[in-house]
Amino acid sequence: MTDYVGGPRLDMNDGLVIPQIGYGVFKVEDDVAEHSVVDALEAGYRHIDTAAIYQNERGVGAALKASGLPREEIFVTTKLWNTDQAPDAAWPALHKSLDLLGLEYVDLYLIHWPSPWRGNFLAAWETLIEMREKGLVKSIGVSNFEEEHLTEIISATGVTPAVNQIELHPYLQQESLSEIDAKHGILTEAWSPLGQGQALEDAVLSSIALKHNVSTAQVIIRWHVQSGRIVIPKSVTTSRIQSNIDVFGFELDQDDLAAIKTLNTDSRIGPDPRTADF
Ligand SMILES: NC(=O)c1ccc[n+]([C@@H]2O[C@H](COP(=O)([O-])OP(=O)(O)OC[C@H]3O[C@@H](n4cnc5c(N)ncnc54)[C@H](OP(=O)(O)O)[C@@H]3O)[C@@H](O)[C@H]2O)c1
Repeated sequence: MTDYVGGPRLDMNDGLVIPQIGYGVFKVEDDVAEHSVVDALEAGYRHIDTAAIYQNERGVGAALKASGLPREEIFVTTKLWNTDQAPDAAWPALHKSLDLLGLEYVDLYLIHWPSPWRGNFLAAWETLIEMREKGLVKSIGVSNFEEEHLTEIISATGVTPAVNQIELHPYLQQESLSEIDAKHGILTEAWSPLGQGQALEDAVLSSIALKHNVSTAQVIIRWHVQSGRIVIPKSVTTSRIQSNIDVFGFELDQDDLAAIKTLNTDSRIGPDPRTADF
């Protein structure tokens, strides 16, 4: 177990804090999550990132309970799925997530995608604001929002998301959107931070790893940390879960950072949020 339990905390714009490194559970089966989330908590993670669409909130909740950790020590994020953005669907969706997780509140609730063709994300944002007022969610944010989506919800409601969770890895560095987030006081959170494993064979990253005597995954996660982003790597392998949060014993230097910067090709793994049709 790392002696850096939870890693550093970042300040959100609503006065609350979020552990910078989280454990993501996309594509983790419900019964596997029940064990892997326990592994993650034992390894020192204090932030779990799930979503209704991942269909593993029950397993995550079982692990939270099994850990015996006090509720206030764990930061739990879940997400509102696209088909539930209308207010009459959003409330039941939140209650279902809370029931499955076995929680009275989530620390962070995100609109999963803007899904602009539905025309519902502003209504969803207004509902999230009410959910926060009722104490069922502590902080509210968005995922996969581009500049125009952010501008629309902020100018209509005056409420700025705490977090924008976006695809971000060495091949899609998202400098421009990260600057827009920062301009609004929104923390950027990197999903698929390892490029779903695709960046792990990269020659440049491997040579930096060799130089520091760490794994390529640790180099990438350290790069996210030094860039000031929230990062939520996923693994179901216990040794990787442990090493992915053990990134505080080395520091990338200016040469390393400059070399990583050259890797950007603006290549997405997931869909473009502006045109995604789901
Ligand atoms: N908001 C969104 O729309 C959205 C979309 C996608 C993902 N996310 C979130 O972001 C999280 C992370 O993204 P992701 O799951 O897509 O991908 P990722 O974290 O970039 O990569 C996960 C892959 O890398 C492998 N891996 C992890 N650590 C490793 C290590 N140390 N050495 C070698 N291989 C390693 C994993 O293998 P094993 O598991 O086999 O070890 C898995 O195949 C998700 O779990 C989810 O919480 C959000």
